[in-house]
Amino acid sequence: SDAEYDSLWRELQTLETEHPALLIADSPTQTVGAEPVSAFDTVRHRVPMLSLANAFSEDELHDFDKRVRDRLDCAEDVSIDYVAEPKLDGLAVSLTYKDGVFVQGATRGDGSRGENITPNLKTIGSLPLQLPTDDPPSLLEVRGEVFMHKAGFARLNANAEQAGEKVFANPRNAAAGSLRLLDANITASRPLSLYVYALGELEGAPPPTSHYATLTWLRSLGFPVNDETTRCDGIAACYAWYQALGKRRDALPYEIDGVVFKVNDLAAQATLGFVSRAPRWAIAQKFPAEEAQTLVQAVEFQVGRTGAITPVARLQPVQVGGVQVSNATLHNMDEVRRKDIRIGDTVVVRRAGDVIPEVVRSLLELRPAETEEIVMPLICPMCDSKVEQIEGEAVARCTAGLVCQAQRKEAIKHFASRKALDIEGLGDKLIEQLLDQGLIEHVDDLFSLTQESVAALPRMGEKSAENLLKALSESQNTTLQRFIYALGIREVGEATAKALAENFGDLDSLMQADDEQLQAVDDVGPIVAKHVVAFFQEPHNQRVIRSLLEKGIHWPAPERVQVPVEGGLDGDIYVLTGTFDGMTRTEAKAALEQLGAKVTGSVSKKTTAVFAGDAPGSKVTKAEKLGVPVRDEAQLLALLATDQGAEA
Ligand code: IVH
Repeated sequence: SDAEYDSLWRELQTLETEHPALLIADSPTQTVGAEPVSAFDTVRHRVPMLSLANAFSEDELHDFDKRVRDRLDCAEDVSIDYVAEPKLDGLAVSLTYKDGVFVQGATRGDGSRGENITPNLKTIGSLPLQLPTDDPPSLLEVRGEVFMHKAGFARLNANAEQAGEKVFANPRNAAAGSLRLLDANITASRPLSLYVYALGELEGAPPPTSHYATLTWLRSLGFPVNDETTRCDGIAACYAWYQALGKRRDALPYEIDGVVFKVNDLAAQATLGFVSRAPRWAIAQKFPAEEAQTLVQAVEFQVGRTGAITPVARLQPVQVGGVQVSNATLHNMDEVRRKDIRIGDTVVVRRAGDVIPEVVRSLLELRPAETEEIVMPLICPMCDSKVEQIEGEAVARCTAGLVCQAQRKEAIKHFASRKALDIEGLGDKLIEQLLDQGLIEHVDDLFSLTQESVAALPRMGEKSAENLLKALSESQNTTLQRFIYALGIREVGEATAKALAENFGDLDSLMQADDEQLQAVDDVGPIVAKHVVAFFQEPHNQRVIRSLLEKGIHWPAPERVQVPVEGGLDGDIYVLTGTFDGMTRTEAKAALEQLGAKVTGSVSKKTTAVFAGDAPGSKVTKAEKLGVPVRDEAQLLALLATDQGAEA
């Protein structure tokens, strides 16, 4: 992997610095890339195509800046002008134009000789074949990176998988593989893109004086230049830019493995020059690798809150995405089969951003003779009940429901979590203890805990017991939205709980709601509605809810119930969409509710009318389809005015 390569590279470099006698001429530190293979003609790069030195920390970046300043004899209070660019993960190419016409394109190869891949490069849509100028330089050589966008890569692999062909491991391999195909017709079908980032040879035009001016000029000649490119005044600004881009890394439409900082002034670049393989005027600051290789030592099956049984790989600990990872989800058995993962395999683990680590694929070429197949257990690893997999569903579930201790534990964890009842101090370990000691069985039992029984638990003192009881008591003062979320109804997350609370206003109405009433709520589809109905029909759930309310859980009554109804819109149901000139939607809603109307988030057959402001959404279309009247703001104002005096 790239990360292993980088780390081995550094080790070699350190060894060579410490023991110069061991340095050999063909050491990888002295050469660049691979020698070209014979399938393509060889192209000589008259200006060598070099590589970049790497920095892995802020300190190393400051060291780079110091070296630059020392060599340039730069006064302490003067900062260096840098250009910052994303470091795209693709394939470096050289593009030659004679009198404005694209005549030759080549790979980097070993830095001085690359492969002639002109026909393949000509298939890239964003590569200009002819420069849009009357006065082109007689000779222009431009360098850049050919890469594949994440979306194009995903499409390519999906198609390959469907056709039963081999998939590419990552966008970089896909781009490199596509460019080096012997049949350019196939290359043409691959979603390749290009960004240029440097000038090679130039004849017949005045040379630019800064790197930034070079990029601006190249852009004016029709070359694609990355819009993220930014000038940074001083190295501190560079590091800040690196951190900011790092935060957006996953949201970018292409993969980057770091950023490149280049001294902007080209005269300064010339003074700085090169060391063996890399310029002294540029550095690549790397991001932590998002993928790493490691060994699957075992697979365990975890039972979730809804009984879903998830295979989890126990891994030989490895650094990925900046943290140590020793477990990774395998999602479900379909995924295990699709990725062909076995215990004993070497696998690629990925952790991007804050996303939980996952096993991407197994490396079949490294598979040892003795591996063990992963099999879904027939009985729940926690409660020994039957495991069931519903036709057409990827997940297997323990059938025991809340009889299963694992499911109960997860349900209680969820109930106590921050976005639910937010019971401070009630963590995983304590919940396990309470269950194991038989002090609780279901969530309502939490509110029957006594100071003595909690204080008697191992590693719990009087003080912590007191704190827990206080937190429990405080958590009873909650909101309807939190309470609905805390119940852990399948498919009801935070947003749905909020929508349900707002639309129904009180728990009883929600508990009695039927499928149609539920589906009238924004974002509630047939599946969510089915789970909500089933949840409230279950006698056990009804008992727990009753018990929770008896034990003192409460929330403020919805405001509109407290407001005396003044008008004659009782029984009317309205939907508001778009923006109004004279009031916000919230104000309009309050005014209608004041008059006794109900305002809901989505249109159904029961809707009395839809009031549409500017830029209304799909709700108008839906209303028209259902034959529900659509009215404008003037009509809304008129309605509010006539009904103001309780006139029907
Ligand atoms: S400049 C003399 N700029 O990184 C400096 N390289 O590790 C030459 N790369 O071979 C490279 N994005 O394939 C430069 N904005 C960028 C880059 C970039 C990606 C690649 C390029 C190069 C490798 C060096």
